[in-house]
Amino acid sequence: MAAFHTLRWIDDSLELLDQRLLPDHCTYPRFDSAAAVAAAIRDLVVRGAPAIGCAAAYGIALEARRLRHESQAGFDEGMHQAFAVLGNSRPTAVNLHWALARMRERLQASSGSGNADRAVTLLDAAQRIAAEDVRINRALGAHGAALLPDVARVMTHCNAGALATAGHGTALGVVRSAALAGKKMEVIANETRPFLQGARLTVWELQQDGIPVTLIVDSAAGYVMGARHIDAVIVGADRVAANGDVANKIGTYMMAVLAKRHAIPFYVACPLSTIDLTMPSGGDIPIEERDSGEVAGYRDLRWAPLGAHIANPVFDVTPAELVTALITEKGVVQAPGRTTIQQLFN
Ligand code: MRU
Repeated sequence: MAAFHTLRWIDDSLELLDQRLLPDHCTYPRFDSAAAVAAAIRDLVVRGAPAIGCAAAYGIALEARRLRHESQAGFDEGMHQAFAVLGNSRPTAVNLHWALARMRERLQASSGSGNADRAVTLLDAAQRIAAEDVRINRALGAHGAALLPDVARVMTHCNAGALATAGHGTALGVVRSAALAGKKMEVIANETRPFLQGARLTVWELQQDGIPVTLIVDSAAGYVMGARHIDAVIVGADRVAANGDVANKIGTYMMAVLAKRHAIPFYVACPLSTIDLTMPSGGDIPIEERDSGEVAGYRDLRWAPLGAHIANPVFDVTPAELVTALITEKGVVQAPGRTTIQQLFN
């Protein structure tokens, strides 16, 4: 079990592990309003699709608690704004909207109660979403582990681990479950430019568990796939369209093309809450574009010349035809497509 918490509820506040400061500092700033949680999501204090969804759910619970003694009109208006500010915090991960929809259902279902009771109900709903996320990740982890040989070397991109969820992780959940089942696991972690989720987060997280991990630059992935035996590439997802196209961290598409070239299975591990049946295909998924400063340099260091024209799309779409299988809590979907994905929800 990981020795850190991605999110935790303490003394009527939400604490988030500040992922911008890892691996150097492990600090837990406190948040007590929806606007503060939305800013934390936008600024990548907390990141990773399921973790964003859990944080947003807690953001709603915090706001209800903060407003519980207001007039009814003040409470209603404040909650309306809370859903709006959290819903607009990041565009690509659909778990955010999934979690907010669940919280809205609970808010509406509690309309007959006083606002103090509604705040308690919403905290319970947020805690359930977080606890459920860990259970789901353990279930999908077990399904995914069964796909791997007893000694396996897995490449991953970005961080789809405990740090990207309420615990255990999705892609790294598969690795963790396999290791817990006695398989000998080794991970190749792509550094994941520009925010370095692989170098800073995946390597740190696996070190905590004692799972061997080797860091490479993203552009070494093709060479490494050819020169060293890789049993599988496993990544997470921010949104999967109804036809099986996968939006995930920028560079995932390159990894899928390379995996196909090298005949390596390319697995996407995600909960059903990441599948968006309202998106017909990947081209419909909104792709976040972030500040150019993330590409021009890192923290206080700048390497691109001032005035350089920079594009910073932070997700890409991998066509379903490049995905060997989706690993979900309901089982493994080989060669995912419209029909097989729909069946997951039947
Ligand atoms: O920008 P990030 O760090 O939020 O992007 C995270 C990813 O792309 C993850 O792979 C994805 O959210 C799945 S996390 C289980």
